[in-house]
Amino acid sequence: MKENKSFLKNKIDINSPNKNIVPVTTIIDSTNRLSIGGCYLEDLVEKYDSPLYVLDEITLRNSCKAYKKALEKYYPGASLPIYASKANSSIFMSNLIASEGFGLDAVSEGELLTALKGGVPNEKIVFHGNNKSDKEIEFAINNKIKVIVDNEHDLKRLKEISDSLNYDLEIMIRFTPGIECHTHEYIRTGSFDSKFGFGIEYLNTLFEVISKTKHLKLIGLHAHIGSQIFELDPHKDLGEIMVNVILQAKEFGHNIKELNVGGGLGIKYMQEDDPPSIDEWIKTVSLSVVQACKKNKLNLPILMCEPGRSIVSTAGVTIYKIGSFKEIPGIRTYLSVDGGMSDNPRPITYQSNYSACLINNPLNNNSKNKFTVAGKHCESGDVLFKELELGNCKTGDFICVFGTGAYNNSMSSNYNRIPKPATILVCNGEAEIIQKRESPHDLLKYDVLPDRFIKQS
Ligand code: LLP
Repeated sequence: MKENKSFLKNKIDINSPNKNIVPVTTIIDSTNRLSIGGCYLEDLVEKYDSPLYVLDEITLRNSCKAYKKALEKYYPGASLPIYASKANSSIFMSNLIASEGFGLDAVSEGELLTALKGGVPNEKIVFHGNNKSDKEIEFAINNKIKVIVDNEHDLKRLKEISDSLNYDLEIMIRFTPGIECHTHEYIRTGSFDSKFGFGIEYLNTLFEVISKTKHLKLIGLHAHIGSQIFELDPHKDLGEIMVNVILQAKEFGHNIKELNVGGGLGIKYMQEDDPPSIDEWIKTVSLSVVQACKKNKLNLPILMCEPGRSIVSTAGVTIYKIGSFKEIPGIRTYLSVDGGMSDNPRPITYQSNYSACLINNPLNNNSKNKFTVAGKHCESGDVLFKELELGNCKTGDFICVFGTGAYNNSMSSNYNRIPKPATILVCNGEAEIIQKRESPHDLLKYDVLPDRFIKQS
């Protein structure tokens, strides 16, 4: 008999969820039924309909704990892990990460508000963005949230605000460290040619400008080199570069207390992916900062990091219902599902790959067929899988796509006026709604027909 090499047979690393394709609580029982968080996926779709996002609480908490534990183990100074909420923003996520002692990174008033409503303490929130509006900056300052200065425009406005309020404002600056890493060009941000942050060559001028302001207190540095990174060396280099910038800032009288190295640790989407563990990543970052500080006789700064994907991606799956089939003899068979690019824009945007299986035959125990899995949107490129191997399946069966916790819900749209799926939290056999399903009627909420167009009857 041919060995079944399904990814579902991989050993699960419970301490570093980013090294698994599936949530840590995934089980296939003796009747070949798939469960996550003690809940059968077929029961979830029966109750909550499809498509459905599911988040596993234990996987989420294990990821958070792995970051906390590694920081305690490898970094002798104070530290604060910060969740990059762009990966998946909700009141629930804000609440969960706050309960794990994390801070939060937000890039809009919407993300800031969600963080505050979810209970993240304002002093643990950082506000990023390359084009913050005046209203957003005011919101952050009124809520005593630290603003990360990304460019001269930010600097000018913060100077004006602190002068007009006549009080000191603590700021961090973001710079581009000039580090190249191997990831998709759209999610690479640390190289010189990036829309984010100050160029490293401009820092001396910047430090001088800030030291001449009356109320801006530069207390921190930030850099983020990209996302879905599997190499450790770029982050090792980043630690050293950032410590050198602390020294540079010191010459202008700035006392940098906080060093934020961004996020970027990759996750395993496919069998061939082998990201470092959370422990290894934190070890690399911590040691490089500690060694560089030691060499330069500097006190250790508060070390911050901003993981997004590696906190939430593996905790999430999406369940779709199979609808139509279209066989093109000698070419391919299309299998269409009830979602697609509106709930997961990553395949069409970055050609991203995912792993998936049938929920009632996860190991493909009968024959193996290859399908092109298409979404339901009116767009030829709306294809979730160019080629997916599944066992025998028919209309009405369900497939589960793994690794969809990050940058799916948060990047979802209503293209073709398709309502967004619900999100269900699973834990110890309990399932709870954390985001309600939209209805087509919800989508009409913001449409306005001017009076003169309303037909008089
Ligand atoms: N900090 C900053 C300033 C960031 O810009 C990002 C991600 C992170 C932290 C978190 O990075 P992570 O740990 O998640 O890699 N939509 C793309 C990813 C864009 C990442 C944007 N910035 C995707 O779906 O792959």
